[in-house]
Amino acid sequence: MDADSRLRSLTDNLACRRRLGLTRVAGSRQEMDELLSLVLPAGPFASGRSLAQIRAWMGECTRCPLHQGRKKIVFGAGPEDARLMFIGEGPGAQEDQQGEPFVGPAGKLLERMLAAVGLARAEVYITNIVKCRPPNNRDPRAEEAAACRPFLEAQVRAVAPRAICTLGRPAAHALLGGDASMGRLRGRWSQALGVPLLPTYHPAYLLRTPQAKAQAYADLKALVRALR
Ligand code: URA
Repeated sequence: MDADSRLRSLTDNLACRRRLGLTRVAGSRQEMDELLSLVLPAGPFASGRSLAQIRAWMGECTRCPLHQGRKKIVFGAGPEDARLMFIGEGPGAQEDQQGEPFVGPAGKLLERMLAAVGLARAEVYITNIVKCRPPNNRDPRAEEAAACRPFLEAQVRAVAPRAICTLGRPAAHALLGGDASMGRLRGRWSQALGVPLLPTYHPAYLLRTPQAKAQAYADLKALVRALR
């Protein structure tokens, strides 16, 4: 049974008990943990969720207006035990169609850059600060990023990468706060959610500004060194 069906069956079961006048439930520790992981909002209990549980918790999300224009939720892709996590800003047109992050031209460039520093796309986890495409690829609004934040935080806890790399300004600002330019932020280590974080340029920016690629390569090499 998938997580949504399990949650529905648990909810039906509890409603039935309430109709019968039962106000206490007894269950195994495992059943209670499972129930908590399906229904609790982010918080101390959120740690320990698997990526599949986080995806189930998100469901067919309508928590912010971005859901109105999306075709597919772009949750994230990559192994649960990835050592490196990339966080972009939000899905573009192709990502929205396919439900996968960074599959358009910017994603292809990211993939080539990863290969150049000896990393396969399949070994890194990639997600975005918002999981639904903003209209006309505008930057995600603060309230949209806030609505998606519990899922992003839970993804970081589930993957527990050795390092995070934010791609572009909206992602860096979402994780680090402030409003510094990418010129100031890129290539400087800091920390978010207890994980070392290095911001670099967004690959879409690099497609428009190839002269910045050398700096982005330097950032990727620094990330690879940090994984050793
Ligand atoms: N740009 C992003 O920030 N994320 C994607 O998934 C694709 C393009």
